Amino acid sequence: MLLIIIVGLLTAFLFKHLYWKRRNFPPGPTPLPFLGNLTVLKNYEPGYECWKKLKEDYGPVYTFWLASLPSVVIADYEIIKQTIIKDGGNYVGRPYFPISGKMRGGQLGLIEAVDDRWVQHRRFSLQVLRDFGLGKNLMEEKVIIESQNLIELLKKQMESGPVDIQNNVDSAVGSIINNILFGYRFDESNMEQFLTMKVGLARHFELAAHPIGMIIGMYPFLENFPYFKDQFKIVVNNWNTLYDLFGKQIEEHEKIIDYDTAEYSDYVEAFLKEKKKHEDEPDFGGFEIMQLKNMCFDLWVAGMETTANTLYWSVLYVLLDEEVHRKVKKELRDVIGSDRVITSTDKSSLNYVNATLNEIQRLANLLPQNLSRVVGKDTVIGGHLIKAGTILTPQISAVLYDDKIFPDPYRFDPTRFLDENGNVKKIEEFIPFSVGKRQCLGEGLAKLELFIFFANFFNQFDAEFDPAGGIPTTKKRFGVTMKAENYKLVLKNSY
Ligand code: HEM
Repeated sequence: MLLIIIVGLLTAFLFKHLYWKRRNFPPGPTPLPFLGNLTVLKNYEPGYECWKKLKEDYGPVYTFWLASLPSVVIADYEIIKQTIIKDGGNYVGRPYFPISGKMRGGQLGLIEAVDDRWVQHRRFSLQVLRDFGLGKNLMEEKVIIESQNLIELLKKQMESGPVDIQNNVDSAVGSIINNILFGYRFDESNMEQFLTMKVGLARHFELAAHPIGMIIGMYPFLENFPYFKDQFKIVVNNWNTLYDLFGKQIEEHEKIIDYDTAEYSDYVEAFLKEKKKHEDEPDFGGFEIMQLKNMCFDLWVAGMETTANTLYWSVLYVLLDEEVHRKVKKELRDVIGSDRVITSTDKSSLNYVNATLNEIQRLANLLPQNLSRVVGKDTVIGGHLIKAGTILTPQISAVLYDDKIFPDPYRFDPTRFLDENGNVKKIEEFIPFSVGKRQCLGEGLAKLELFIFFANFFNQFDAEFDPAGGIPTTKKRFGVTMKAENYKLVLKNSY
C-alpha cells in the first residue's frame, strides 16, 4: 500500500513538473523542481553560450525557468521588433521578486516599478535629466569636468609608474551620477564613501546575477536555513549600506531646501519639491521618501557600473588591437590635432572613434541576461500563444552576438559600423540599451560619457599595457554587467 502511495505521489510530482506546469509555454530545457533552469546557466557562465545553445535547440522563442518563474525568451531581432518595438505598450510590466519587494518596500523606484508609478517616475526622471541637459548644457559640463579631472589625475599618477585606471574611471563616472542625484562629486576628501558605495554595488550586482542570488530572490524563506542565511545577510547588508548613505543625503537636503523657489540643482532637490506639491495626497502622490531612496538606488546602480565597465573594456579592446589603436590615434591627430578638450560638437567629425565605440559596446555585450518584462495582454509570439502576465525577456545579448547580423561575432571590428565612404553606418540591430518603452533611461547620458571620456583619453595619452603584467585577456568576470580583468597601463602625453 505504502509503495502504491509513494509511486502515485512521485508520478503526480513528475507529471506536474515535466508536463502540467509547462503546457502553456513555448518549449525549453526541462526545469528542475525549485531550481528551474538556473543550473543550465551556471554551466555556461557568463551566459552568452547558454542563450546561443538554447536558441539552436528550441528556436528563437523558448522558455527558461528562473527558479520557479517561467520566462519566455526572445532571442531574435525580427521577433523583438514585431513585438516589443512595434507593440511597445504591451511590454512594460516587470516581474515581482519577493526579496526586492521586501527590501524596497514594494515595487518602488524605477527599474522594478510598474503601472502608474513607473509612468510617473520615468516621466519625472527624464524631465529632470533633460532640464540638466537643456539651456546651459549643464550635463555636458559635468561630464567634461570629470573627464578633465580624470586626465589630470592620470597625468600625476603616470609619473610614478604603470597605472590601473579602473578606480579613477569608476570614481569619475560615479561622480557624474552622484552630482546629478545629490549635487556633489568625489575627491580625496570623500573617496572612502565612494569606495563603500562601489563595493556594495559590485557585490549587489554579482549576487543578483548569480543563480544563488536568484534563488534567494525567489524564496526569501530560505533565510532561515544554514548557508542561505549567510548569503541573505550579504544581500541585506549591501542594500542597507546603500540605503543608509542615500537616506543621509536626503536628510541633509531636507535641512537646507528652499521651497520658495521652483529651481533645483540636483535630483533629490527636484523630487523633494515635487513631494511638497503633493503633500495633501495619500503617500504624497507617489513622491514618498521610500520612493526617493529607491530612485537614488536605481539611478546610481544603473548609471555607474554600466558606463564605467564599458570604458574599462574600451581601453582594453583598443590596446589589444594594434590596427584599431593606430586608426583611433590617427583620426584624433588629423581632426583634433592638439591637446584641447574634445566636446560633443566634435562628434560628427570623428567617424572612426564613433564606430569603435559602437563595436566596443557590441563586443562588451554588458548585460548577458538583460532585464525581464511582463506581457500586458494575450499575444502570439513566434507562433506561441503567450498569456497576459507572462514574464518575457528580450535577449539583446543574443542579438549583439548573432552571427547572421554580425559575422564572426567575437571578433573586434569597428569597420562593421562604417559605410563605404567611411561614415558611421546605422545598424538597426545594434541595441545595447535594449528596445521599446522600457529601454535604458540613461542612454543619452551614457553615450555622452562614453564619447567624451574615450575621445579625450586617447587624444591625451599614448598608452600601452605594462610589460610587467603581460598581455591581458578579454575574459569576462561574472555579474549583472560583465567586468574586464584588471590591467595596468604605461601612459605618456600625446602632446
Ligand atoms: C553603457 C551604459 C549603459 C548600458 C549598456 C545600459 C543598458 C541598459 C539596459 C539593457 C536596460 C534594460 C532595458 C530593458 O528593460 O530591456 C537599462 C535600463 C535602465 N537604465 Fe541603462 N544602461 C547604461 C547606462 C545607464 C545610465 C548612465 C543610467 C542613468 C542615468 C541608466 C539608467 C537606466 C534605468 C533607470 C533603467 C530602467 C528603465 C525602466 O525600467 O524604465 N542606464 N539600461
